[in-house]
Amino acid sequence: MYGKGRIIPALIIFIGLMTAPMWYGSGDASKLPNPEKPKGYTECVEDTQYMRTSHMKVLNDWRDDILREGGARVATTANGTEYVRSLQNGCMKCHNNREKFCGECHKYASVNPYCWDCHLQPKEAM
Ligand code: HEC
Ligand code: HEC
Ligand code: HEC
Repeated sequence: MYGKGRIIPALIIFIGLMTAPMWYGSGDASKLPNPEKPKGYTECVEDTQYMRTSHMKVLNDWRDDILREGGARVATTANGTEYVRSLQNGCMKCHNNREKFCGECHKYASVNPYCWDCHLQPKEAM
């Protein structure tokens, strides 16, 4: 005998999980979580949409260019804000709360970059 008492709650949980991306982004399944905007800055190192999809490529390019090609360690955004091409001194200077920024998306996407094994993270802002 299958008790309704067990199947119905299991179904509800299952449906809840399957539709989570929809209600999480209030109706839009393609929407990602809401990472905290950096304070005091208006633009990223590249176009925001590009950063959303390709920030890992930006990081890899910086690393390869700096460490293998002796590339520059500083650069400027489109509007002329100078930044350091570095994970901890660049990205994390503007995005200074790893948990509420990087973590917000990474938890959702189930990725856990190993970069922090070596690179320091800023003290999490409360
Ligand atoms: C095993 C240790 C280790 C791990 C893991 C690691 N790195 Fe690095 N990374 C280094 C070292 C050492 C340097 C050289 C530091 C320097 O000369 O500035 C470096 C330099 C860099 C640089 C250029 C300079 C800077 O200060 O940021 C970038 C960008 C970078 N790493 C990104 C990453 C990313 C992204 C990840 C994760 C996907 C990662 N690293 C994982 C050790 C590591
Ligand atoms: C000079 C400050 C600054 C630096 C350096 C910087 N960012 Fe940004 N970043 C911003 C700002 C401001 C925004 C929001 C832009 C907007 O609202 O259009 C942003 C947006 C983003 C987004 C999209 C977030 C969203 O809401 O969807 C990602 C992902 C991102 N940055 C990752 C990075 C990474 C990774 C690095 C280092 C490779 C980096 N940023 C370096 C200021 C910076
Ligand atoms: C707008 C959402 C979002 C934000 C904000 C974000 N990430 Fe990501 N990140 C992702 C997604 C999604 C992936 C997985 C992409 C894939 O697998 O193709 C990812 C993957 C990565 C990877 C590659 C990891 C791997 O194992 O392949 C690195 C490195 C990374 N992110 C660094 C960062 C850092 C550092 C920050 C904060 C400065 C950050 N990301 C902020 C969404 C985000």
